Amino acid sequence: MTQVSNPCPGHKITKYLIFGAASFDSRGMTTVAITNRKGGVGKSSLTTNLAAALALEGKRVLVIDMDSQASSTAVFLDELPQGALSTAHVLIGQAALEDIIVPSTREGVFIAPASRELTAAQLTIVARTGRETILRRAMRSLQGYDLILIDTAPEQQLATVNSLVAASHVLMPFTPDPKALEGLRTTSEAVAEIAAADLGQATVLGCVQIAHDRRLAVTEQAREQVRKAYGEGLLETRIRANSSFIVCPAWHRDIFAIERGERAPRRGSEDYRALAIEIAGRLGWKEMSDAQVAV
Ligand SMILES: Nc1ncnc2c1ncn2[C@@H]1O[C@H](COP(=O)(O)OP(=O)(O)OP(=O)(O)O)[C@@H](O)[C@H]1O
Ligand SMILES: [Mg+2]
Repeated sequence: MTQVSNPCPGHKITKYLIFGAASFDSRGMTTVAITNRKGGVGKSSLTTNLAAALALEGKRVLVIDMDSQASSTAVFLDELPQGALSTAHVLIGQAALEDIIVPSTREGVFIAPASRELTAAQLTIVARTGRETILRRAMRSLQGYDLILIDTAPEQQLATVNSLVAASHVLMPFTPDPKALEGLRTTSEAVAEIAAADLGQATVLGCVQIAHDRRLAVTEQAREQVRKAYGEGLLETRIRANSSFIVCPAWHRDIFAIERGERAPRRGSEDYRALAIEIAGRLGWKEMSDAQVAV
């Protein structure tokens, strides 16, 4: 992918925003932060179901949950035992990242869980030197994953900043409503600010539309606005509106497991498989992007 039109015209710092597949880090691993400053746009749903889709294609995926709401953790763990180590402990230096990673309910996906303690952890580190780079440093010794996905909170808090600093790429989900573009702009500015401060250089892998409903005119209007602003930064795959997603955290399962017992059409599984293949294409994973979309 090449540079596309500036999504935030008139905003001086967006010259730091880069689009495309760009580089891998020195370990050969791609780290994608799933981010949007707007709440409830499908960040956790995208993190977990994309991880599952890639694992079903044979990839080994690590999910790092950096949101104290722990929605990704809820999908991938039947329960987080009392006192279990979490990303909060990594931030305050009480655990190594490797020590908190556990296998998830989806084979091939591993999770670094979040807990409510993440809120307090961020207060603990607020005056520490290097507070924005703790996660990146903790990730240095990770090995053996094809992809790392980081789920982030909507607020621009230290855990989110750490996630953006650690990321080689960002993926921005949006729901098609009149405020969609505003949310994406604020998020893009946050990414650009990290680059402007020389803290990191995540490239924008793309914007993903969540909860598409073709019966609603507002859906198409919002999508067109995003296409105008982000050009080919907008991913073609849309995740259709589907009430099956709502049960994922409560049942501790991704959409592929939820829909497995259902008769076709299994729309959530189809959409996430298509998205995984499109993203594989952007990352240059040829063997996957050549695959046919069929669930
Ligand atoms: N394609 C979809 N169709 C309908 N509902 C969906 C879809 N994807 C996700 N949802 C639902 O939308 C709600 C918000 O999703 P999610 O929790 O992933 O958003 P979020 O951006 O992570 O929220 P937060 O900002 O609070 O972390 C959830 O109830 C989820 O099940
Ligand atoms: Mg979330």
